[in-house]
Amino acid sequence: MSKQSASAASITLFARRKKKGEKIVMLTAYDALFARLQDGGEVDAILVGDSVGMVQGGLPTTIPVTLDEMVYHTRMVSRGLSHSLLIADMPFLSAQVSTEEALRNAGRLLAEGGAAAVKIEGGQAVSRTIARLVDVGIPVMGHLGVIPQSIHSLGGYRTRGTRRTEADRLLEDALALQEAGCFSIVLEKVKPELAARITRELRIPTIGIGSGADCDGQVLVNADMLGLFEDFQPRFVRRFAELGQAVRQAVSDYAAAVRSGDFPSADEQ
Ligand code: KIV
Repeated sequence: MSKQSASAASITLFARRKKKGEKIVMLTAYDALFARLQDGGEVDAILVGDSVGMVQGGLPTTIPVTLDEMVYHTRMVSRGLSHSLLIADMPFLSAQVSTEEALRNAGRLLAEGGAAAVKIEGGQAVSRTIARLVDVGIPVMGHLGVIPQSIHSLGGYRTRGTRRTEADRLLEDALALQEAGCFSIVLEKVKPELAARITRELRIPTIGIGSGADCDGQVLVNADMLGLFEDFQPRFVRRFAELGQAVRQAVSDYAAAVRSGDFPSADEQ
């Protein structure tokens, strides 16, 4: 049984925040250790992103991340949360092959992982499946713009919506996801003016990442904002700490203390 309890946030919080004009705060987490540290009540939602494959697994893309891995990480995060809403990413092709498979896979993230909602990348191509998931009681967050599972067809991480046809398509996709019953949509690297327009036109809240300040909320990868992931730093990331440097310093201090005989001291035996 997951530790997610009745006191954890529900998706209705998202609607309330949008109605009141209060920003929604979202962060990723991949294990119980960080989930506990981030779950103080200030973070509305924790996303177990398939970014786990890149951040913790050392992969070059999110494509090889499996459903079993997502279930495992979601279960770990659920043990560390009692406040924030827990959302789990549906990994590559776990929602696209058939609606039946999507139902079974999303069901595992809720039943075995303890998630309260799932996130699915894509627009009109997945909207019928999303409607079916929502029908059976599985809350779904959409994800548009740069959708990393489609990186090979997108051809890169450039900002989306800079061209007229692309912008029109993104707005249509957002409306289709709202129609399908999504409770919120992540907009990743969408041109800020377009993200602002989508945010105005939708009843459901948008969560931005690299899409400007006018979205209804923001999400960042925890390892990025903590300064732990150092392979590359997208322009939209602000580092709120430099934990990578702190870890290296601590490891070096520990090694020196062991070698010098300073650790353990008489009190530490
Ligand atoms: O996988 C992930 O962490 C994500 C966020 C960056 C939105 O999809």
